Amino acid sequence: MPFMQWTEMLAIDGGHVDEQHRGLFEAINTFHEAVAQGHETDAVARALDFLKSYGEQHFSDEERLLAEFAYPRLDQHRRQHQQFLEQVAAFRTQLLEGGSGLGHSMSQFLGSWLVNHIMVADKAYASFLRGSSGRLQAYDGPTAKPG
Ligand SMILES: [Fe+2]
Ligand SMILES: [Fe+2]
Repeated sequence: MPFMQWTEMLAIDGGHVDEQHRGLFEAINTFHEAVAQGHETDAVARALDFLKSYGEQHFSDEERLLAEFAYPRLDQHRRQHQQFLEQVAAFRTQLLEGGSGLGHSMSQFLGSWLVNHIMVADKAYASFLRGSSGRLQAYDGPTAKPG
């Protein structure tokens, strides 16, 4: 049983985005396994490098889509993506500095971040993109800034 498992509950578009999200789950699983098997730092760093480049690709695809549809909370969404990438980079530095005992809590953090981001932030843009009723639901909050 893999550490992280994508389920239909996390579905966003039934297509490209979901495929990339599954890829991110796999990348986190690879990292988790490298840590669990006590692999040398190189393998663990490589797993994080892959997560970083795959993440960059997914985030930029998503941001391009949101820009195309003038998503009103794009800036906030982009900041979350950036924070994730910064966290991955910080973890890499920590691991290379000898903090390999931290690997397990790192994979926990990355996994929870991803599930939470998909469930809240990605689902919010999905409702927006689905149309006007979804758009109202997604922006019914104090930070709402209608397009
Ligand atoms: Fe996102
Ligand atoms: Fe996403």
